[in-house]
Formats: sequence, C-alpha cells, structure tokens
Amino acid sequence: MAHVTLADRADRWLSRLFPTRFRPGAPEWRHGKAGMPHLWRMQRAFQIDFLQRMGLSPDHQLLDLGCGTLRGGLPLIGFLASHHYTGIDIRPEVIAEARRELEEAGLQQRHPRIEHVDGLADLDLEQRFEIIWAFSVLLHLEDEELDTCLAFVRRHLTDDGVLYANVNLGDGQLGRWEDFPIVARPLDWYSERARAAGLDARSIGRLRELGHLSGDRRADSQFMLSFKKSR
Ligand SMILES: C[S@@+](CC[C@H](N)C(=O)[O-])C[C@H]1O[C@@H](n2cnc3c(N)ncnc32)[C@H](O)[C@@H]1O
Repeated sequence: MAHVTLADRADRWLSRLFPTRFRPGAPEWRHGKAGMPHLWRMQRAFQIDFLQRMGLSPDHQLLDLGCGTLRGGLPLIGFLASHHYTGIDIRPEVIAEARRELEEAGLQQRHPRIEHVDGLADLDLEQRFEIIWAFSVLLHLEDEELDTCLAFVRRHLTDDGVLYANVNLGDGQLGRWEDFPIVARPLDWYSERARAAGLDARSIGRLRELGHLSGDRRADSQFMLSFKKSR
C-alpha cells in the first residue's frame, strides 16, 4: 500500500512539474490509464524485450489479454507479422485510447485485432494463439475471475502455446487500482487453480531478475509465471 501511495504522490508531483506531458492525449496521460504514468516507457520496453527473450517470433499469433492502451502492445504490433496481434480489454475507454495510439503510430497497416470485450466467461475469439500475454492483469483478478480467465486461456492456446503473466506472490489484498483489486496469492495456489483448468503453471523468476527495473520495489518483486496445457 505504501508503494502505491508513494507512486501516486510521485505522479502528482510530476504532473505539476511537467503539465504538458500529462494533458489528455499525451503519453503519460494515456498510459497512466494502464499503470504508473512515469513508468510507461520502461514497462513498454520490458514487455517486448521479455517476450523476444522467450522466443517470440513475427509469425506467432499473440493475444495481449488486458491490452489496455497498447502500452506494451504497440511495439509488439510493429514486430509481429500483419494480422498476428490481438488485443482485448474489458474497459471500452482504454480500447478507444489503444486505437488512437495505433493510428498516431501509423501502424494500422499491420491490421491488429483490437477489441473491447464484456468478459471472458463465454468469449470465443475463434482463433488459437501460440503466446497469450497478460501483463499486470492476473494480479487484478478476483479469485472467481482468475478461474474464468484460466479456462478462457485453456480454450485459446495452441497445443504448445504458453501464457505468460506476472503476479504478486503472497496472500491477501494489497490495495486497489482503478476499479480493480491488487491481489497476492501463493505459487501453490496458482498451480492448483491452473491444474483445475487443465494448465501447468511454473515460475520463471522475479521481474527484477528478468530486467524489470522500475525503482518500484513491489512491482520489481513480482513473479512471472508461465502456463501451458497439461499433457
Ligand atoms: C494494469 S493494466 C495493464 C494493461 C496492459 N497489459 C499494459 O501492460 O499496458 C490491466 C488491464 O487489464 C484489463 N482487465 C482487467 N480485467 C480484465 C478482464 N477480465 N478481461 C480483460 N481485460 C481485463 C484492465 O482493464 C486493464 O486495462
């Protein structure tokens, strides 16, 4: 909680010092809808860097689950082949910003699929993905929603596909962000929920060790998990 408060305070001070960077449409304003405004560049660079190190190739079909404003998605769209990026989010206002971000970058010719969704329970994208990427999403899901999300992932992964998602390991609610909780759950708990959905979960390591160096201790201490279909 203290870290959230400190980060909020830092953002407020930064917005006073650099008002034009926080005006509507400016990057800090836009990507502030997806996380801490002053960290958007670092968190954009981390996402594509991590996925490329995991072997992302231009011909993979990638689903950016909870894509927000394309903070992480824009460089992925630039890297992937045309029609190979899909981004979905539950908040219509961030999807509107995602579309503006795409247009301003002139990347519409990559034909990404960017969609607002009402939920994951009955959602069928009628497509399978080699990579599902959920950056800073699972840690905002209530337990029941996590089960729904894992079942959705199971339905949408190719047989050898993988979901990568960062989480807080621990037990409890650490605070709130926007309308979402910030949850911490033990690794065993994630493994159990994954098993129930027909997935195998394992930890890849702390974000800090994977190159996520934001200066925010709690964010850098999160863990990256992978989920694959159980054999
Ligand atoms: C912290 S933001 C991260 C956004 C993006 N992944 C990024 O790194 O820039 C989490 C996003 O997940 C979305 N989200 C939360 N629950 C969701 C759900 N059940 N289905 C789809 N999106 C969801 C939120 O609306 C929000 O945009």
